[in-house]
Amino acid sequence: MTRRQREIPENDPLNKENLKLLIDQAILENKDRPGAVMLVLNEIQSKIGHVSPCMQVYIAQSLKVPQGQVHGVVTFYSFFKTKPKGKHTIKFCLGTACYVAGVPQLIEKAKQMLNIDLGETTPDGQITLEECRCVGACSQAPVVVVDEEVQGKLRPNKFPQVLKKVQG
Ligand code: FES
Repeated sequence: MTRRQREIPENDPLNKENLKLLIDQAILENKDRPGAVMLVLNEIQSKIGHVSPCMQVYIAQSLKVPQGQVHGVVTFYSFFKTKPKGKHTIKFCLGTACYVAGVPQLIEKAKQMLNIDLGETTPDGQITLEECRCVGACSQAPVVVVDEEVQGKLRPNKFPQVLKKVQG
C-alpha cells in the first residue's frame, strides 16, 4: 500500500470503487475544458454529495493545479460540502418571517437535543442540520424542511416529535 493510500480514510469515496470511478470520469471529461476545477467539483458534489479533503488533493493532482486552488473554491462556495450528509436533513428557514416567528429557538432546541451545530451531522450519520432561505411558506412560519417535507408553525416543544419521526 502506498503512503497516499494509507492516508485516505477507509470510508472516503476514493476508497470505494464505484465512487472513485465517478470521480475519475468527472476529471477525464472536464480536465481540458476552461474552468475545469469548478466543473469537476460541481459534478462530484452533485453525484457524490461532498468533496472530502482527500478528494480535493486527488482532484488537484489530477488536474495539475495547486491544492490551494481547489480548496479555495470548495471553501468559498457554500454549495460544496466537505463531509457526507446524514441520511436525513433538517433545514431551518432563515427567511425574515421564520426568523421573527421563532426559528432561532427551534435551532437552539435541535442543537441541544442532537448535540451538533448547524452544518453538522450526528456521529451515527443519521441527521444533518442545515439552514435554508425562504421556501415560500412564510404564512406557516416558523418553517423547517425535513428531508423534502415542509413543516410549518413548529414550536420548540413540538420539535422532539419531529425528531422521533425522523429517527423512526
Ligand atoms: S421566510 Fe420561511 S418560508 Fe418564507
